Amino acid sequence: MRPYNKLLLDNKAWAKERIEVDPDFFNRLSALQSPEFLWIGCSDSRVPANQITGTEPGEIFVHRNIANMVIHTDTNLFSVLDYAVTHLEVKHIIVCGHYGCGGVKAAMSNHDFNQILNMWLRNIKDVYRMYQAELDEIPDEEAKFARLTELNVKEQVIHLAKTSVVQRAWKKRQAPDLHGWVYGLKDGIINPIFEMKANSVIDPLYQYDDL
Ligand code: CO
Repeated sequence: MRPYNKLLLDNKAWAKERIEVDPDFFNRLSALQSPEFLWIGCSDSRVPANQITGTEPGEIFVHRNIANMVIHTDTNLFSVLDYAVTHLEVKHIIVCGHYGCGGVKAAMSNHDFNQILNMWLRNIKDVYRMYQAELDEIPDEEAKFARLTELNVKEQVIHLAKTSVVQRAWKKRQAPDLHGWVYGLKDGIINPIFEMKANSVIDPLYQYDDL
């Protein structure tokens, strides 16, 4: 059996089991999607949004990319963000990074990963530069890596607050709240590290006054 055939077999078993537990499961879900959460996480295969939060299909709208970045020129992310915030009206956006993130680690190195990855990782190097004074004070490389992972998540949450999509929703419906979390690969525990409730104060430079 080819490896991907196992996925298809397991899918059939899963669907059968769901119907046994809850006969109306697929009827209900196919009729309506109203998730409360938008998840912006790392593409890393060890950090699956639903499994680690114990949530079911229909509960979380998900976007994942390398190192859970919110980059202002990323039309993929922004389509997801706009749809989730403006149309699905999610109540919370979670940026979830993880300790041991390969993207963050790569950005800490001086290795040339070729242009496309260099472009992406450059954004994490920019976070390092913003917090260079704090990070350079940490002698232990692992601790520095963990701290940059946390600071990167914090900066991506702040990036969300800079968008007109989020600011318009804050003005119109006093939501969503923004959360920055970091998941531990070694213990499976999520560490909440930063939060911006709806209508938090942001740098006036990024504030739209005619939404
Ligand atoms: Co990662």
